[in-house]
Amino acid sequence: MLELIPITDSIGTEVRGIDVTADISDSDFERIYQAWLDSTILLLRGQNMTPAQHVEFTRRFGEIYTYTRSNFSHKELPEILILSNQKEKGKPVGSAYSGRVWHSDGHFLTEPPVGSMLYAREVPPVGGDTWYGNMYAAYDALPEGVKERIADLKVIISRVQSRPYNYPDRPAPTPEERAEWVDVSHPVVHVHEETGRKALMVGGNVPWRIEGMSEEEGLPLITFLQEFAVQPQFTYCHKWQPGDIVLWDNRCAMHRATYYDHFTHSRVMHRTTIAGRRSAAAAV
Ligand code: OGA
Ligand code: MN
Repeated sequence: MLELIPITDSIGTEVRGIDVTADISDSDFERIYQAWLDSTILLLRGQNMTPAQHVEFTRRFGEIYTYTRSNFSHKELPEILILSNQKEKGKPVGSAYSGRVWHSDGHFLTEPPVGSMLYAREVPPVGGDTWYGNMYAAYDALPEGVKERIADLKVIISRVQSRPYNYPDRPAPTPEERAEWVDVSHPVVHVHEETGRKALMVGGNVPWRIEGMSEEEGLPLITFLQEFAVQPQFTYCHKWQPGDIVLWDNRCAMHRATYYDHFTHSRVMHRTTIAGRRSAAAAV
């Protein structure tokens, strides 16, 4: 029988009594979907799904976004992105290092994905945890004066600027990448198109610029918001076990990967991504 159990007071729901490879009735699915909207992340433990079943389960939440240019897509199912420190015939099978600063996925796109579903296949005994933060809760807790000050602000997201924060091991962006990676701006306060609730979306650690503000004015404000957003009362650190699935709502949650000893231990995760549907909602 389906059970929905809060993970902490402010974030997450653990879904129990469900095998994602079996038929999930529409009424159960509606409750699961609503819990996702309400609490920003879902956790399902002890699941055993093939890549095809992973894709199928993801589709119930929305259309899949396929990273067509990734080197780390699953060979048979490009809808799946592999995060792994393992190599096959000397070649990395997945992205070994990503998401180590607080972020939401694809924030540098004009239409970021609405969510991602991560499935743990192999996990290290220590480290390799993932932090999640509820950005509705962070917004709600802001002092009124700050809410007013940021109400109409936009943050400029620069993929070029964030590159060394996300990938300290990679060379600086090439001239071609710089030309391709145009800056985008997003509201600091994101109005979620399905719930209508406000979420504070400012990423973490990267000293983003605020549209129309000098660096002198914008940087302290961004830093304040980034630190405010990830206080312990809004966040949860997930310690993975093989068979865990976490689905996050990328419109109102941020997340962050942590370090592990990748020389000694293996970490293999499969990820699917749910395509953006923000512009459709913006028209409503
Ligand atoms: C991601 C991501 C975190 C992790 O898949 O988008 O940030 O802990 N992953 O692997
Ligand atoms: Mn991520």
